[in-house]
Formats: sequence, C-alpha cells, structure tokens
Amino acid sequence: MRLMQLQKRTMAVAGITLFGYLIFHMLSNLTFFSPTLFNDFYNGYNDGLIRWLVLLAVIVILAVHVRTALKIRAINAKARTIDYYRHDKFKIPAPFVTASILFLLAFIVIHVIQTLRFDAVDVYLETVQLFQSFWMVAFYLAGLFVLTMHLQHSLANVFQTLGKTAWTCQYLAWTVSVLLTGGFALLPLYIYFVMP
Ligand code: HEM
Repeated sequence: MRLMQLQKRTMAVAGITLFGYLIFHMLSNLTFFSPTLFNDFYNGYNDGLIRWLVLLAVIVILAVHVRTALKIRAINAKARTIDYYRHDKFKIPAPFVTASILFLLAFIVIHVIQTLRFDAVDVYLETVQLFQSFWMVAFYLAGLFVLTMHLQHSLANVFQTLGKTAWTCQYLAWTVSVLLTGGFALLPLYIYFVMP
C-alpha cells in the first residue's frame, strides 16, 4: 500500500513537472507571432547548455513518468477484480489507450529529432518550412489531440485528489488542456492556412 502511494506521488510529481515544461514551451512558441522575438528567444536558448540541460531533464522525467505508470498498471491489474465506479459512462478500450500513449511517445521522439536538425540561427524559418507540408500539420495536430486527451484524463485525476467534485474536475481539466494544446496548435494552423 505504501509502495503504491510512493509510486503515485512520483508519477504526479513527474507529470506536473512535465506539465510545467509544456506551459513554458507553449508560451515560448507563441512568440512566433513576432518573428524577431521568436528567433531571439531560440538563439539565446540554443546558446550554451540550456537547451541540452532542458532536453536531458525532459527525457529523464519522461522516463520516470512512463516507468512509474507501468508499475502502477501492473500493481492495479493484480489487485483490482472489480472496476471503480465511473462518473462518465463512456469507457475507452484499454488497447486503444495503450496505442494512443505509444503514438504520443513516438510523436515526442520524432519532434525532438526534427527540431535537433533545425538550423539554430533561424528557428522561425525552420518552423515555417516544417508546416508547409500538409502531412506534418496533420501529424502535429494528431499528436496534440492525443496530448489533450491524456492531459484531460490526468488533470481530472489530480483535481479529484485535491478534493474537487467530479464534474468540476472534468470541466477544469478540459479547459486547461484545450488552452495548452490549442496554444501549440495555433502555429501549424496559422502557418498552413493563414500565412501567405
Ligand atoms: C506545434 C507544436 C510545437 C512546435 C511548433 C514546437 C516547436 C519546437 C521548437 C522550435 C523546439 C526547439 C528548437 C531549438 O531549440 O532550436 C522544440 C523543442 C522541443 N519540443 Fe516542441 N514544439 C511543439 C510541440 C511540442 C509538444 C506537444 C511537445 C511535448 C509533448 C514538445 C516537446 C519538445 C521537446 C522535448 C523539445 C526539446 C527540448 C527543448 O528544446 O525545449 N514540443 N519544439
């Protein structure tokens, strides 16, 4: 029981740290609407070790997050014979959840490889070029969609632990998740559909 509590706490701390990174990343990306500010930010970010330290921290925390999730899953599978009472009657099948998480991880790996190949001097131009492709826009929107579902579900759990009622949790979690992923989605959508 105490082991399970420790796992859950580790999972939440790792998740909240990743969430903090995502807020930072989304807000820095929104500077895109001022090309000079965007390039200045990424020039500073790529200068020295900052970017590498952030990347290393994200990889380590993500690994802890996934590993703990797998452990909790294994413990739950052994312990629970009757499912929890559900407020929402809609249940997504387990294989679909696993597939979507694998897709999200693949999305992050591909995205990091793509940005590592960017020319650090003009990240603005690199970003514009990336989203010239319809398939890249579709891929990023799919990744962001899965991220929205994942955040909604996880945040609703966190809010519930903090004592909010079931419906408040659901609405609050939807609002926060959509604001975050919507902020990310503005870039591919703007570049592909609006930019001349
Ligand atoms: C449309 C959405 C996104 C855009 C335009 C975008 C853009 C970028 C850019 C420009 C960089 C860094 C390039 C550099 O420093 O030279 C970067 C790095 C990174 N991005 Fe994204 N990103 C997006 C969504 C995401 C999402 C949803 C995640 C995670 C779920 C993510 C995770 C990362 C990570 C881990 C790095 C490497 C560490 C870092 O440089 O901060 N990104 N992204």
